[in-house]
Amino acid sequence: PTPVHLLGTGSSSPSLRLPNAALPANLDTSDDWIRTRTGITARHLLPATAGETGAGETMAGLAADAARRALDMSGVPPAEIDLVINCCSSPDDLFGDATTVAAKAGCTNAVAFDLTAACSGFLFGLVTASNFLQGPARNVLVVGGDALSRWVDWEDRNSCILFGDGAGALVLSSDAGAGGGEGGGGLLGYSMHSDGKGHGDLMCGGGGGEVEVDTADGGVTLGKGGYGPITMNGKKVYAFATREVPAVLTEAMEEAGITVDNIDHLLLHQANIRIMETVAKRLKLPMSKVIANLDEYGNTSAGSIPLALDEAVRSGRVKKGDVIGAAGFGAGLSWGAAILKW
Ligand code: ACO
Repeated sequence: PTPVHLLGTGSSSPSLRLPNAALPANLDTSDDWIRTRTGITARHLLPATAGETGAGETMAGLAADAARRALDMSGVPPAEIDLVINCCSSPDDLFGDATTVAAKAGCTNAVAFDLTAACSGFLFGLVTASNFLQGPARNVLVVGGDALSRWVDWEDRNSCILFGDGAGALVLSSDAGAGGGEGGGGLLGYSMHSDGKGHGDLMCGGGGGEVEVDTADGGVTLGKGGYGPITMNGKKVYAFATREVPAVLTEAMEEAGITVDNIDHLLLHQANIRIMETVAKRLKLPMSKVIANLDEYGNTSAGSIPLALDEAVRSGRVKKGDVIGAAGFGAGLSWGAAILKW
């Protein structure tokens, strides 16, 4: 297979920061409960916007900010990106934000499409990108981001405390020198799964209504679109994640021809620190190898893995040649793992 080089990361999060103590006063919860049960102390939220109110104030704006930063780090000129995959389940536009993100990031020659796989979105997008790099594409930008604050029930303490908004991005290339550097790193192996039987455990389903349409024959009642709010069986999702994530990571390590001893960093979807602790323990990895930033951002769905990766790369925690075991999981149900070499 053609090697896949990882050339740059970027991320963006809204400036509005909501610590646990500032959650709605009528929510029967506490900072202590949220921190001890989830590891979250704050989240960043997009304000309500109708249309464009400036960079970073819309979902597409956040995604484009992250994309621009990843492109800058990569050295790949935006016009040389062939493909933009925007992994998002909560776009500004139901038809997708990919083309807007590509245009804002200057990817004028790219084909752009959206990929919807909730919290597994970025992982699935990364694998999709690496497959395109085996064929028609040379440089691919994968963006992951969500704005689930727009879709939660702010009176449901079981779920609204978990989510935050944010985005991250990664530039991949089949050409080591695409950005003027040496390239290197890559996607060493992966494994992906989904199971619709668990769909009802975590969803943002139809919440629309009806519309009467007068026709020549009389009239018909048709559906009117609408979604949400998010409903979640937290215990079932927790059990699913702690059961499947170690298994899928093990499959991806086998595919990559490595063992757990070769893993320098464990980078899981940032859903709950206790899920990370359990997965690390099951894989016999110390917590010192776990990359976690959910204390500050909560669960940003498709944004969480690239956001945490970008922070770890920029802080120097992830170094050239380090091996990362990454795994996403969530609604669908869907889950997947990828072994990355930085
Ligand atoms: N504040 C205070 N109390 C609360 C809160 C809250 N925010 N939420 C629930 N409780 C209460 C419950 O009502 C329950 O009370 P009861 O015993 O009187 O019935 C008690 O706390 C314990 O609730 P549990 O559900 O047992 O709490 P648990 O330890 O399982 O934690 C949590 C709940 C945090 C939701 C956990 O199950 C979890 O993280 N699950 C995974 C969720 C997840 O990862 N979802 C996202 C997937 S990604 C995607 O695709 C979008």
